Amino acid sequence: MGNQAKLTAGGKDFDYPVLSGSIGPDVIDIRKLYGQTGMFTYDPGFTSTASCESALTYIDGDEGVLLHRGYPIGQLAENSSFMEVSYLLLNGELPSKTELDEFDRTITRHTMLHEQLMSFYKGFRRDAHPMAIMCGVVGALSAFYHDSTDIADPVHRRISSHRLIAKMPTIAAAAYKYSVGQPFLYPDNSLSYTGNFLRMTFGVPAEEYEVVPAVEKAMDRIFILHADHEQNASTSTVRLAGSSGANPFACIAAGIACLWGPAHGGANEAALEMLKEIGRPERIPEYIERAKDKNDPFRLMGFGHRVYKNYDPRATVMQKTVREVFDALKVNDPLFETALRLEEIALSDPYFIEKKLFPNVDFYSGIILSAIGFPTTMFTALFALARTVGWVAQWNEMISDPGQKIGRPRQLYTGPAQRDYLPVDKR
Ligand code: ACO
Repeated sequence: MGNQAKLTAGGKDFDYPVLSGSIGPDVIDIRKLYGQTGMFTYDPGFTSTASCESALTYIDGDEGVLLHRGYPIGQLAENSSFMEVSYLLLNGELPSKTELDEFDRTITRHTMLHEQLMSFYKGFRRDAHPMAIMCGVVGALSAFYHDSTDIADPVHRRISSHRLIAKMPTIAAAAYKYSVGQPFLYPDNSLSYTGNFLRMTFGVPAEEYEVVPAVEKAMDRIFILHADHEQNASTSTVRLAGSSGANPFACIAAGIACLWGPAHGGANEAALEMLKEIGRPERIPEYIERAKDKNDPFRLMGFGHRVYKNYDPRATVMQKTVREVFDALKVNDPLFETALRLEEIALSDPYFIEKKLFPNVDFYSGIILSAIGFPTTMFTALFALARTVGWVAQWNEMISDPGQKIGRPRQLYTGPAQRDYLPVDKR
């Protein structure tokens, strides 16, 4: 008999198996708890709850470690490409040269959108937030690609996964083009995944667009850094939506909706807006005081994380990438100095030290994206583009699991007990 955890409830003792993963904390398997004790566990925000088994991504928040299929994020960001990381997340192993070429070709061949879907954009107001457009257009994919929505068929699952990864840059770029009133550009399959996205976003039909290799590399690295992150809010949303058997396009649209929130993917937009508001380094102490004040709702955006109680390893790479992009584009945004100073001051302040609040991936990403030319409203859309591969890989993992069940949490009910209806004249 393996490890057991003992629970005493209602005067009786119960034993629950303790399960071990390959690394990381063990879990207490409480699947029989309700049947045996008539009690639920209570864990709002799931701070102590493992919702699934997964072999994709591992995070050690105390040590600041992030591994995809065992490979450290720093090594992947330095040496790999977004296409390679996508293959790794989907298939479990790094591809051979032939496998990578084949995967790249497949994704490239799915980059176009159904022409009718392109007209769908015209229904939005020009000032619509790109994330609002992304939610709508990605949800609408199921209306256009219903030949790949049979989730019981592994071939359908593979095709819909490839479609989602391939079409996301086209969808995001079109959301941007629509907002600035420029014509949509069709994908150019002679370019890389990331080069193609840059061209569709910043190119115009009147001129040749030249992809700047350093910018392409930085953008690709940003995509790698956002590719997957274990069971975060949007990934859990995708899994929960998918657990009912909903089609993958609808599930990813649900993930995009969740990602939009400022406590999650929306933080990169909020972080840059905050840095702009702070403006000069002299004003930092004022904002640090506000962040510490319990009566002020202001938080340092791009700081703190549910899992990382150490430096987010993605923020380290992101900070380095800022300099590379500045050098390549010969720009120098004073907000970077403000950000560095803010980090320095916060990390020497007892409030942030005690609460273990460090910069997260969003703290520096906005500075890079802004230098490349993206408006802040596009930041979360870029996050969604990159995270699509993680969502898709997690969704596939869940659907392929024979023990998969519909997700259905319970509650601690605090409303009125049963009472009788009174007609309005008797209330
Ligand atoms: N600024 C000031 N104080 C903070 C911050 C912050 N950014 N983050 C957390 N705290 C404080 C909280 O007030 C709380 O204090 P208390 O214990 O005295 O009540 C304590 O630190 C713990 O914070 P919680 O909100 O309970 O931690 P949780 O794990 O629920 O939240 C979160 C994590 C949402 C990321 C939070 O740190 C936050 O709001 N950060 C700013 C938004 C942000 O950058 N989000 C991006 C996350 S990364 C991503 O999604 C890619």
